[in-house]
This record gives sequence, structure tokens and C-alpha cells, in this order.
Amino acid sequence: MTYVGVHNISTTTRPTSSSPTAIMSFSTFHMTPVDPPGGSPTARRDSARRPSDRRSSSRRSSIDPRKLVPMDKTTHISGSDDFNVLFIGAGNIMFGSDEGPWNHSFRFEHKLGRRLKVVALIDPAVERAKAVLQKKCDSFVVSAYENTRVYKTLEEFVKSMSPKDRPRAVIVGSPPMFRGTLQPGRDIEMQILKHFPGVAMFIEKPIATGPAHELQEAFQIAKSIEDSKTICSVGYMLRYLKAVQMMKSILEENNLTVMATIARYACAYEAIAKPDWWDKSKSAGPVIEQGTHFCDLSRYFGGEVDISTVVAHSLEFDENAGQLSAMKVDESKIAPENRIPRVTSATWKYDSGAVGSFVHVVALQGTNYSCELEVYADGYQLKLVDPYVQPILYVRKPGDDHDQVYRFRDDDPFFSEVSNLIDIIEDIEEDPEGATILSSYEDAVRSYELTWAIREASERSRAEKLAKSRAA
Ligand SMILES: NC(=O)c1ccc[n+]([C@@H]2O[C@H](COP(=O)([O-])OP(=O)(O)OC[C@H]3O[C@@H](n4cnc5c(N)ncnc54)[C@H](O)[C@@H]3O)[C@@H](O)[C@H]2O)c1
Repeated sequence: MTYVGVHNISTTTRPTSSSPTAIMSFSTFHMTPVDPPGGSPTARRDSARRPSDRRSSSRRSSIDPRKLVPMDKTTHISGSDDFNVLFIGAGNIMFGSDEGPWNHSFRFEHKLGRRLKVVALIDPAVERAKAVLQKKCDSFVVSAYENTRVYKTLEEFVKSMSPKDRPRAVIVGSPPMFRGTLQPGRDIEMQILKHFPGVAMFIEKPIATGPAHELQEAFQIAKSIEDSKTICSVGYMLRYLKAVQMMKSILEENNLTVMATIARYACAYEAIAKPDWWDKSKSAGPVIEQGTHFCDLSRYFGGEVDISTVVAHSLEFDENAGQLSAMKVDESKIAPENRIPRVTSATWKYDSGAVGSFVHVVALQGTNYSCELEVYADGYQLKLVDPYVQPILYVRKPGDDHDQVYRFRDDDPFFSEVSNLIDIIEDIEEDPEGATILSSYEDAVRSYELTWAIREASERSRAEKLAKSRAA
């Protein structure tokens, strides 16, 4: 038994106009006995492969924040048998880049240690795939990649796969335009269900970026996944932040009903040099491709959205206030109707009656994004700031007009996301409350639906405004 404390949380009282700066800090927030992640080796081995009744992620929707252990403080999952993984996509999300902290292969290596065997890497860009594998084989994680084979398609892998290469998890990090539908070539989820029934999946966000009318196909995929009881996690990793789980526990422990969510996602556009990102016909636009994380977090706290209530406005590229001076792409190469809005602002009603509000802004330069989420309930304001880089949580409670401030150093939601998935696949008997998938495929389709509703509502507003000014 080890003791893991959320000792890196510190609390300060934020200066306000009516109070001097007061800083308190304490090194121990909670000291709670927990087992090494994954439970004891014996329990794990006894329980591995047992069919799980925790396959449906809808059973629990939160994790005790104290159980979100950073990668360098975890132990490798125990056991000695190979854990076969199939990677689909050899890009940044899978192998990292200097754009951000994402790098799934790195987290799998840390979670599974020498048990990790990447049986194949599927990517039509074969040279890119070979290059990333070469780097791995030149490093100390060679044992996971020395027998990895590269294929252009899943079918090619299925045709030549030997039984010992059957994966236990398929990790999908291909571009969303090739996923989330029932159409050949864009139906990877259905192909995985067909060729590997019972095998767990991880799918990156957003679940698709095709036209809005294809949404129903995504719901059908969600149903197939649910009906087949396939373990499936979608990459909304912000749900796994300790700060987010602390917000959840404050709401749950105090039996609170969320009244409002206010989300703001301001990206640093100067650093975004991928031409496709600026082209709605390719990326589906910044709300669907990027703001999706905050629309998803809003839903995580506010619950289901009444999609018919979504209203939105945008500031467009051809309006005076929408001029950007530091774009790194040549926007003249993008058809005017496909150029992205600079600002999208939306509000909606949740089924609970609560109100949601979201603003996506393409205005900042430099590299750091400015993202905040506020959640309000009777007597409470929970404000999450900078979740990507240095999450800070400001908590205002009844009985005190000042915020308590919590900082979360060493938190790695990408690792927690992978760690929880593996623990669910391994089905750790000893700690049934220990692992949870926080974003199911169906849940992720609903976030996707919300982002499309926002885009469409803003386009309707713009069309109405243009029609009015033409008529005037
Ligand atoms: N959660 C996060 O914070 C986060 C961060 C980065 C990316 N992502 C998501 O990950 C996904 C991939 O993004 P990326 O940055 O790695 O993109 P990328 O362009 O760097 O890599 C995508 C790779 O997929 C390959 N590919 C194209 N079609 C394919 C197909 N049909 N089958 C298999 N591979 C195919 C491409 O050749 C490329 O190598 C996107 O959905 C993106 O939104 C999420």
C-alpha cells in the first residue's frame, strides 16, 4: 500500500478590490491510502480477461481526483504477458510534436512498460509511419516497436494478421474526416467492430468533421458500440484533469445543481500554420475542431443540451473587426465561403433548465491559448483557468466572498485518459471504483452535435443579417 496525496495543490486567496493579497499554502490537501494504480499484481492477474460490468462508461461519470496519478508517480502495469495495441494514424497525436503535450504512444509506453507490443501502425503515409517507428526502435522502448508492421489500411492488416497479433486495443488517431460515418473509407469504427469484436477502442476527438447531415450515422455507430458492449473511450482528455474532477466532486458532495456554464476558448492563431485548420471545408471550422473540448466540458457539467435552443453569432473574416494581422497561412487560397469566423458566440438551454454559453475567439497571437470555464450553482462559482498548460481552479463558496485558489502541478490528463482505459480493459477486480471512462462514443457524438448546432446557428444569423442589409 502506498500513500498518494494531492500534495501539489496549493491554495491562495485571490486579491480583490476589497481585500489585501493573502496567500496561504499547504502541502497536503488529502492524504489517502490508495493501492498502486491497477491494484496488487495478484489481484490483477486473477482478474485479467474477466468480462467487465464496467464496460459501459455511463455507470459513473467522475473519478476521485486523488486517484489521478501523474505518469512519473505511477508504476508500470504489472504482469508479463504482451499487451497488443494497434495504432491507426502516425501523426502528432500518436507520436507527439512541438505543438503540445499530446503523444499517446509515450503514455502507452509508460502505462504498459515492457508489456506493450504495437503490432501494427496503419497510415497511408507509409514513409511518415516508418520514420516514427525508426525513432522508437533507436530508443529504449524498442521492445514495443521492433516487430511493428506498417500498413496503409486496416484491411491489409486484417488480411495478413497472425492470431498472436490480435490487438487488445485499437487506438484511432487518424484525421476525423476519415471517421464517424457508415461510408466505406470513413467507417473505421464499424470496421474495427467487424474485424475485432470485443476489442477495446480509443477514438480521438472530434468523432468526425463531415457534413452535419451525417450526424445520424455517428449516432448509429454509437448504438453499435453500446449494443456490442465494446469498451470505447473518446479523447476528451480535459475531463480527466484533476481540476475538473475536483469541480465534479464539489458539485456532487454538496448536492448542487448547475445553473449556468460559461466557456471561453481564445486560441493563439499566429501559431496555427495548418492551412486545413483555416478552411471550413476541411476542418469543419474552429468550433467543431477545437472549441469542441470546451463544448464537451460544458456538457460534462451542464448535462444534455436542448439542441433546438442553440443561438449564435459570429464575426467573419470580411467584417472590419475580423481583420487579422499575423496569420501564417495565405487565406486568399481558401474560398471565401470556407474561411473561418474570428469569433463565434453561442448560448443554449440545457434539458435541466440551466443556461450554457460559449465563445470561441481567433484573436490572440503568440502561442498560449486563453481558455476559461465557469460553472455556477447556488452559492458556488467554480472557475477553471488555463486547463491546457497550468490549470488553476478558483472556488467561491457560501460564507466567503473570496475565492480559494487551487493549482495542480504535474497533472497529465493524457496519461490519466490512457491509464483509465487500460485499467478498464484489464478489468481490475480489486478496485472496482478505480477506473472510469469519462467520454463514451455516444457522449462524444452529442458534443459533436452541439458544435455543429453552434456553427449552423451562427451561419443562420449571418445569412439573416446579410439578407436584411441587402433588403435595406
Ligand atoms: N486531444 C487533443 O488535445 C488532440 C491534440 C492533437 C490532435 N488531436 C486529434 O487527433 C486527430 C489527429 O490529429 P493529428 O494532429 O495527429 O493529425 P496529423 O495530421 O499530425 O496526423 C494524422 C495522420 O493520420 C494519417 N491518416 C490519414 N488518413 C488516414 C486513414 N484513413 N487511416 C489512418 N491514418 C490516416 C495521416 O497520414 C497522418 O499521418 C485529430 O482528430 C485531432 O483533432 C487531439
